[in-house]
Amino acid sequence: MAHSDEPAPSLRSFADDYRRVRLAEGHASTDPEFARRLPFRDITGRHGASWRVRAFHYLAIRLGLELVRVQAPGGVRVLDLGAGNGWMARRLARSFRVTALDVDAGETGLGALRDARVARVAGDLEALPLRARSFDAVVAAASLHYAFDVRSVLAEAARVLRPGGVLIVADSPVYDHAAARDAAWQRTRAHYAAFGAAHLAARYRGLTRAELDAPGLFRFVAAVPGMMSWRSVLRGWRHPRADARLPVLFGWLR
Ligand SMILES: C[S@@+](CC[C@H](N)C(=O)[O-])C[C@H]1O[C@@H](n2cnc3c(N)ncnc32)[C@H](O)[C@@H]1O
Repeated sequence: MAHSDEPAPSLRSFADDYRRVRLAEGHASTDPEFARRLPFRDITGRHGASWRVRAFHYLAIRLGLELVRVQAPGGVRVLDLGAGNGWMARRLARSFRVTALDVDAGETGLGALRDARVARVAGDLEALPLRARSFDAVVAAASLHYAFDVRSVLAEAARVLRPGGVLIVADSPVYDHAAARDAAWQRTRAHYAAFGAAHLAARYRGLTRAELDAPGLFRFVAAVPGMMSWRSVLRGWRHPRADARLPVLFGWLR
């Protein structure tokens, strides 16, 4: 579902906001070593705990793609959707044929990815400049929750996948209920608005499992169910189901 009936905020302004905020928060770095060491080491030293979870999720994704290989003996074609600085694309390129797509072509985005094995594409998740049926797997790691209209991304992933292909959604916050998602979205908007990053605030929003399932394009299975922090669990006693999980979902194209 789109966030509102308003037109989508400019993607370019989003990318500018995103780069500035992520650098300030330690989620990005201009040091090339940052992307090279992820997800196993966060050289900023600021988000080690969350990268440890992400490293585990990366291994689950890697394993899932090995299973896809059985149906793609000629080589698994993987699209890394919202690849950022391309840390995952570079690692996956050791074993798969990888294309990395992101709106950010700058030094904290695709510009950081200098690897001849990876094809880089600057573009929008919601209107992929890619041919139909050209991938065996699409991986959206920590990117789907920035879509203005999740349905468009799901439709585009379905279009570029071959029949029987798989969409892997990882590290996006998934809420049980729309009300909890929207309450969290309001908190996030306030947080980013305080940074003066209105375009980022307008796009960052969690997902619900229902909105992933609603178009009926993919049959999703949770490969990793995702965990809540103990702080969230305790808060959940007072506000049941108020918090998100960060699952790894494998969605087979129907
Ligand atoms: C949190 S980062 C995730 C990067 C990487 N996939 C990872 O796992 O660390 C989200 C990425 O999605 C990209 N992104 C968000 N909305 C986008 C859009 N509409 N089109 C293309 N890329 C987008 C951002 O530029 C950013 O690089």
